Amino acid sequence: LNAKTKSIVIAIDGPSGVGKSTISKLVAKRFAYDYVDTGAMYRAVAIAASDKGLNLDIDSALAEFCKTIEIHFEDNGTKVFVNDVDLSERIRTPKAGEQASRSSALPSVRDFLISLQQKMGRDPGSSGVVMEGRDIGTIVFKDAELKIYLDADEKTRTRRRHGDYSPPQATQASSITLDEVENELAGRDKRDRERKHSPLRMAENAALIDTTDLTIDEVVERIVGLMKEKEIIA
Ligand code: DC
Repeated sequence: LNAKTKSIVIAIDGPSGVGKSTISKLVAKRFAYDYVDTGAMYRAVAIAASDKGLNLDIDSALAEFCKTIEIHFEDNGTKVFVNDVDLSERIRTPKAGEQASRSSALPSVRDFLISLQQKMGRDPGSSGVVMEGRDIGTIVFKDAELKIYLDADEKTRTRRRHGDYSPPQATQASSITLDEVENELAGRDKRDRERKHSPLRMAENAALIDTTDLTIDEVVERIVGLMKEKEIIA
């Protein structure tokens, strides 16, 4: 008999608002893989640290803080907890995104979360994982079986992210304007691309998918096609 096949890692990176979460969840569901939203981990650390009154730009403060926290997901990656407190709702605001973008530039926070992500990714109990973020293909899993870099033009990403803040089932119209979302994305992207520690960039061996003119299903089908090419699936 063959040795147990190792678990598969599919790395999905790209800028804010490109659709990483939507796409990653669908791919994970289709193959019953785990789903890990690493942005949610950076957001959760930022919220928990700011609740403690810590300055999110000071590495030494965050280094101490990271020693005191335990982070885990529930409901197949859709809920995130820090020290058993459910922060899933609170991480989904523009402010949380901004705070996460700041604290994620600190080496202490990155080292802490990257090692956690590496453990979650090669979980022997699962057949595979779809992990999304900014540095999954370049740093966290340089050896991922498949690396995807999603991109889309800025207007499209702004529109998509604005939609995230105004779900169709919301009873009140979103108070966030397109301009505010555009500023949020531009500020975060610049910081995420220009920071010293694992900046956002495409891995050399990643497949680039420009999603500007593609539907969600079309993007998923392209990824499934790449999985076949790489013989990850039959
Ligand atoms: O994907 P997101 O918008 O939830 O991510 C929030 C912030 O976290 C983003 O501005 C940059 C940071 N981040 C990161 O530095 N590395 C990752 N792998 C994921 C997110």
